[in-house]
Amino acid sequence: MCGIVAYTGNRDAYPVILKGLKRLEYRGYDSAGVALVNHGLKTFKKRGKVGALEESLLGKDLQAVAGIGHTRWATHGEPSDRNAHPHRSSNGKLAMVHNGIIENYSLLKQDLLKKGYAFESDTDTEVLLKFIEDIHVSHEVSLEEAVRIALKRVVGAYVIVLLNEDDPETLIAARKGSPLVIGIGKGEHFLASDASPIIEYTKEVVYINDYEVAIVRPDELILKNLGNERVTPHITQLDMELAAIEKGGFDHFMLKEIFDQPQSIFDCLRGRLDANMGSIRMGGVDKHLDQLVNAKRILIIACGTSWHAGLVAEYVFEELCRIPVEVEYASEFRYRNPVINEGDVIIAISQSGETADTLVAIERAKENKAFIFGVVNVVGSSISRQSHAGAYTHAGPEIGVASTKAFTAQLVVLNMIALKIAYTKRTIDQHRYLHLINELNEIPDKVALILQDTDHIKILADKYKDARDFLYLGRGYNFPIALEGALKLKEISYIHAEGYPAAEMKHGPIALVEESLPVVFVATKDMYHDKILSNAQEIKARKGKVIAVISEGDSQFQEVADDVMMVPLSDELVAPLLSVIPLQLLAYFIGVSKGLDVDKPRNLAKSVTVE
Ligand code: M6R
Repeated sequence: MCGIVAYTGNRDAYPVILKGLKRLEYRGYDSAGVALVNHGLKTFKKRGKVGALEESLLGKDLQAVAGIGHTRWATHGEPSDRNAHPHRSSNGKLAMVHNGIIENYSLLKQDLLKKGYAFESDTDTEVLLKFIEDIHVSHEVSLEEAVRIALKRVVGAYVIVLLNEDDPETLIAARKGSPLVIGIGKGEHFLASDASPIIEYTKEVVYINDYEVAIVRPDELILKNLGNERVTPHITQLDMELAAIEKGGFDHFMLKEIFDQPQSIFDCLRGRLDANMGSIRMGGVDKHLDQLVNAKRILIIACGTSWHAGLVAEYVFEELCRIPVEVEYASEFRYRNPVINEGDVIIAISQSGETADTLVAIERAKENKAFIFGVVNVVGSSISRQSHAGAYTHAGPEIGVASTKAFTAQLVVLNMIALKIAYTKRTIDQHRYLHLINELNEIPDKVALILQDTDHIKILADKYKDARDFLYLGRGYNFPIALEGALKLKEISYIHAEGYPAAEMKHGPIALVEESLPVVFVATKDMYHDKILSNAQEIKARKGKVIAVISEGDSQFQEVADDVMMVPLSDELVAPLLSVIPLQLLAYFIGVSKGLDVDKPRNLAKSVTVE
């Protein structure tokens, strides 16, 4: 949530920052701004996307030795020019960008108001900056020391980067609870909320930890804790190519990422699942296999699409491993007083690895001595570092706000973990184990087959794009896919959609059924097939429109449905990996046909780093 880019070094700062902001725009896009320092400090801010800022700056002298930039997802104060970052100190010498929420900003603001400070925006960021300024000026301490003193009194989450007119080449940054990466170049440093603005300049990066302050100059990076002790920067190499964060000829990142799936699923399986040997090797799982196999209960915590992956995993783990599983929204878990017993294993699922609710839920679980296993996409992210063990999903960077390839990779990882546990526990026999390994191994090719012809889904999108509501129904392993299909449609097309277990329909939602209501059945061949077919007939009897995701050759369902989207036949346990693909495409094409910005849907942000 909110993207930050900063630069100090021998290049002109503005082009580096602008390009970086465009890469980070998926994190928030209601306003953007930059502060640049050369002979004096200048700030430029604009409501709207980064493009609007860029346009407003055409023809201006923007030469700078250092600068900071921000693309915002509003928390305190409506999206507007004045609430956009960077904010300026009262004396005009400091500029600051911030990602996160300062929870005690109101108390701090009251104190500052009493001291005569005035505020130009409604943001918590301006309060924090003026709090730092007050300490810096009235206590006559260095800016670095003022930052440390201020942050000890701050409650909340933050990444901040400060630019100082009096020390133009020095950036001061700090973090707690939100991500910050520093790229190390020759005579230059890049700071950003994730590695995407940095990757084309350097692969050497340092991930800043909570409660660390970085003093960054072109030739120097000093890390300290809030107690003013030096911390040794841990340099890691980025394992990412520039092409992975570009659209590669597709109109949108979302479409590219849907089409990435044969490869991303393959990458997720690669080196782990060996169909010839009939084996699964996963470093993080193998090392902690005893803990997982002997788990008395598995608690899955996640948000959004990752939570849907958790729901699928609940069905898979209970079926294969005979371990009780509970799936919970991280945002609920963190504020409850959940019962966590010895022998419980927590699986935290997250694409970004930075979701604030999931991170705090992990902290709560750790306080209760739980063992945390992370299923995370972004390497080096906070959740991956907070987990005791884990498995990366290796889906590659996901830029589109609507999660697609990260979801299928999560399902693959969770399936492999379940198979590994089940086989070790002997809760499945070798025949079923080998059969499911083969089924998983065939998924990349089957997904590629679905993607070979998407024109009919485009036609369906045109046919149904003006519907006011959609209902998505599924049973068993496909119930969470109904939820996921509905979420995708809501996010991308702003059409109201609800997902339900198909049998639950009779207990309420059936009242919504009328001629104009499209009902999407996720009905690939499985043990519930006859039951869900009856549910479809119940919809038809009430004149609803039935659209169905079915397995190839399912003539029975074809007879009932108005429209179908077919996927290759597979074992019901891995079917969600296929049935979700047409639903991603349907949402995408409806969003596009309505002329919406599918990569940056309104009000959303890619990683939700505030609660
Ligand atoms: O990065 P995470 O997987 O932790 O994110 C969780 C949700 O915010 C995310 O899945 C969100 O629901 C997506 N926009 C769904 O498309």
